[in-house]
Amino acid sequence: MTTKTAEILEKQRDHLWPNHLLYYTEPLPLDRGDGLYVWDVEGKQYLDFFAGILTTSVGHNNPRVNKRIHEQVDKLLHTSTLYPSENHVELGEKLAEITPGDLDTFYFGTSGTDADETAVIIAKVHTGYQEVVALRHGYSGKSPMGMALTGQASWRVGGPQVIGIHHALTPYCYRCPLKMTYPECGVACAADVEDVIRTSTSGRIAAFLAEPIQGVGGFITPPAEYFAIVAEIVHRYGGLLIIDEVQTGFGRTGDYWFAIERSGIVPDVMTMAKGIANGLPLSATATTPEIAGSMIGAGLTISTFGGNPVSTAAALGTLEALHEEAPPARTAAVGAHLRAGLERLAEKYPLIGDVRGRGLMQGVELVLDRETKEPAPKQVAVLFEATRALGLLIGKGGLYGNCLRIAPPLTATKDHVDEALEKLDVAFAQAQETV
Ligand SMILES: Cc1ncc(COP(=O)(O)O)c(C=O)c1O
Repeated sequence: MTTKTAEILEKQRDHLWPNHLLYYTEPLPLDRGDGLYVWDVEGKQYLDFFAGILTTSVGHNNPRVNKRIHEQVDKLLHTSTLYPSENHVELGEKLAEITPGDLDTFYFGTSGTDADETAVIIAKVHTGYQEVVALRHGYSGKSPMGMALTGQASWRVGGPQVIGIHHALTPYCYRCPLKMTYPECGVACAADVEDVIRTSTSGRIAAFLAEPIQGVGGFITPPAEYFAIVAEIVHRYGGLLIIDEVQTGFGRTGDYWFAIERSGIVPDVMTMAKGIANGLPLSATATTPEIAGSMIGAGLTISTFGGNPVSTAAALGTLEALHEEAPPARTAAVGAHLRAGLERLAEKYPLIGDVRGRGLMQGVELVLDRETKEPAPKQVAVLFEATRALGLLIGKGGLYGNCLRIAPPLTATKDHVDEALEKLDVAFAQAQETV
């Protein structure tokens, strides 16, 4: 460790709250990035296959994004939502070109938490109902309502703080909560949404909120037909379907701009953040002009930083880069290459219980025994230290802390994928020995 790393870690300990979750036994201060690579303060290079939690969507220092940012920084830094600005409205126009159906109006905020909060508020205003159903294993953010919507105890710091939120079974096929097998199950878990509404709510709901692939939950990937079944139930009980595309949006899952499109349904409200601006703080809540119209007369709303000119400039650059460098069809192809490589590793290492996900959002669940499926979080820790030493950054998650989350910038090439797979192979060999 150099003096520089030691200094940063000491200041972190002295001045930042101790609840900041830091990866690795010795936390890793990053210094600069370029494309698919980042360097730590000691000059060591890493291939970035987590993209700052699926956020650096078009690679570090992407010239299309940075040019827009530089131009805007020299022009005007801040307006607040009290004044219309060109970037703000242009971003709405450009997003409307890729959002499904008539999800053509937006409220811009600063984080995924903000976007999900905004979505629930509009659902309550529009329907006149208060209760919300979310999914177990889901993640919705760090505000009191975000934590209440979240379906994992460890992320609910301070205890449940918002009433009227209920959780249905999650479509987690590898660990089916109903102990059934897909497709013979007929996606029976979807019916639990109706059971929850009928048993735990007042019978009418404002919304059902879920991620198309549960990110923090460990890339839990529901069967494609799940959301069509749930949409019918939710609408029958008066609610809006809110789909959280914070991790899955902007082509991350391949083939489509938004993951929910694969289910053939259009949600009533959709939230996005992370990859929208390649790392600048920005989020968006999308809905139809009709639903957005319910906010007229409902009360006053401002967002000081929402739709900030620099963040929206970055988002315009990011969209341009996505169209030019990393459209969904390309992500599907590079993602298939990654998936095939992970499946080859699964043939080699019994530690791998499940490989799942779509596009460049691939999860690997580690188990001590494929029969009992006993989670292997200690082996994830071994794998983490090994990949770090080999110069590869990946993510982790899951209720049991035993899932790898592999999600590079969407500009990754098949060569980058091969480089990552080689490093993972070496790291898995080390982790497998510890079982
Ligand atoms: C699906 C999902 N929704 C919401 C959030 C909250 O986003 P933020 O951390 O930007 O508040 C996250 C963050 O990881 C997320 O994964």
